[in-house]
Amino acid sequence: MCGIVGYVGSSKKSANSEGEKRAVRVVLGGLRRLEYRGYDSAGIAVLAGSGISSRKRAGKLANLELLLDSDPLPAAAVGIGHTRWATHGSPTDANAHPHLADNGGLAVIHNGIIENCGPLRGRLIDGGHEFLSETDTEVAAALLAENYRRAAESPANGDALAVAMRRTCAQLEGSFTILAVHREHPGLIVAARRNSPLVVGRGDGENFLGSDVSGFIDFTRRAVELGQDQVVSLTADEVVITDFRGEPAAGTEFTVDWDAAAATKDGYPSFMAKEIQEQPEAVRRTLQGRLDTDGSLSLGQLGISDQTLAGIRKIIIVACGTASYGGQIAKYAIERWCRIPVEVDFAHEFRYRSPLLDDRTLVVAISQSGETMDTLMAVRYAREQGATVLAICNTVGATIPRESDGVLYTHAGPEVAVASTKAFLTQVTAGLLLALHLARLRKSGPPLEISAAARELSRIPEKIRLVLTTEDQIAALAESMAGERAVLFIGRHVGHPVAMEGALKLKELAYIHAEGFAAGELKHGPIALIEPSQAVVVIVPSLAGSPILHAKMISTIQEIKARGGRVIALVEEGDDVTGAWADALLTVPSTIPLLAPLLTTIPLQLFAAHLAGAKGLDIDQPRNLAKSVTVE
Ligand code: M6R
Repeated sequence: MCGIVGYVGSSKKSANSEGEKRAVRVVLGGLRRLEYRGYDSAGIAVLAGSGISSRKRAGKLANLELLLDSDPLPAAAVGIGHTRWATHGSPTDANAHPHLADNGGLAVIHNGIIENCGPLRGRLIDGGHEFLSETDTEVAAALLAENYRRAAESPANGDALAVAMRRTCAQLEGSFTILAVHREHPGLIVAARRNSPLVVGRGDGENFLGSDVSGFIDFTRRAVELGQDQVVSLTADEVVITDFRGEPAAGTEFTVDWDAAAATKDGYPSFMAKEIQEQPEAVRRTLQGRLDTDGSLSLGQLGISDQTLAGIRKIIIVACGTASYGGQIAKYAIERWCRIPVEVDFAHEFRYRSPLLDDRTLVVAISQSGETMDTLMAVRYAREQGATVLAICNTVGATIPRESDGVLYTHAGPEVAVASTKAFLTQVTAGLLLALHLARLRKSGPPLEISAAARELSRIPEKIRLVLTTEDQIAALAESMAGERAVLFIGRHVGHPVAMEGALKLKELAYIHAEGFAAGELKHGPIALIEPSQAVVVIVPSLAGSPILHAKMISTIQEIKARGGRVIALVEEGDDVTGAWADALLTVPSTIPLLAPLLTTIPLQLFAAHLAGAKGLDIDQPRNLAKSVTVE
């Protein structure tokens, strides 16, 4: 949700072989990598000898790049850049960041939502301030300018911009990462964060800021994660961190362990296409060191003691979107193998329904980014209520794992496409590992089934590879359905969350109305939607593994056919029954039922991606969306 980049080099460096436009080049490069966080508009401000110069444009980053070609920014050693996901105000040039204040002497970019911007704006207008945009960010800029003028009056405030930033943050409510440069402070960026991420990249004679490390991964792997309510003053040689009161503070230092190449398309037509293909390896990495081929399991340091886990009486899984469907699949495995009741809640619903939590409740927060604000707020609420929180997360050092009691990292590698694919599969894998771990700790569940499941899980990456070989067949089917106006998805048992995930993928990528239902529910209402030719994707339970559910699904298929619906059936190898009723048949390798989502989800990802491709849509950056939703 908005990407932020900052760069401070020395003026000496900007004039050397790196070229005079280092600030613009670094910031623009960072924005290209962070564009997945929002792509409604983009802008850059640089701080050069002549003061602040800025350019901004509505639309994708390419629009800003065109503008910079025709109207370049001056050579500079300091720059800030922003790519926006609109909250306050529509995506226009005027609402794009940076926003200027202090007679053009101050430039500000911001991620998050300032909840008290209404009253602040009113007060500033009463004081004579004129706003040029509808954004909450311009309110923050005006407030910062006001605080800056006061701070700068006192000769004791050599760090007037940092003093002003701290005062401003104390007046703001909501979530924010703010970066500011001022023409009276050449060579300095001051930044602050609350409930919104900010990472410093440490270079040699230059320093960087990013919403995440991909903002500067081309230049350094040495990173410092800023803590909650911290302010950082960044020069080419120094990184000074304080809290909002001005007391010295420290961030969390870490080394980025992935390669810049991991966040490139690497010859694929889209990041999503690449990330779908990476799934065998992503799942293998999630299992690595945790599960052997003989089924022996070791989850290592979860951060939560075995004793605590053994005493858990209830589990609540909180997550949003795709991650919540991963949680629903984990529920089936945990309840069957561990005999612990599991609830799955959208994180944004969880804390507003007065859930029953105590010190024997385990809350599992699933998040790819580890920054989803709804999920973070659920984590905080759960801990306040005395529950133990385990994060399942893909992003090392992100806020959700840092604020949880323990973490199980998924190791999918960076996921750039807005539509989640490999992150989902690794979330499901992590959920299954957790279920196996708890079952062994508690000596619960059917032991032979659990051992067989553990051995089978270690074979899953190879089976995922086999599913991927069917891409051409799925692509042809998707292309033939590009004119579809609505598609229904149905499943039973773990096929139900898979159906919802398939529908979500189609909605977000192909802008086609799609709904996922529990197949048994069809006859209780949704069957009214079936008219001649209505396409229904059916995730058919395993004939061998779940014969009763399979038979019931065949009845449902017949009910759809009787009303003229078209059935696209997703079956397991060896299913010689369903084909007689289906208009199209997609096949995945056989596995045990609780592991089936690790295979059945993939044809649905490919289906949505190819259908969106056939419609000529942007697969990596679907309209209105952003990768990390860091507002509530
Ligand atoms: O980063 P998170 O896993 O917390 O994100 C949760 C959802 O916003 C995310 O899964 C979203 O639903 C995806 N765009 C779906 O493809």
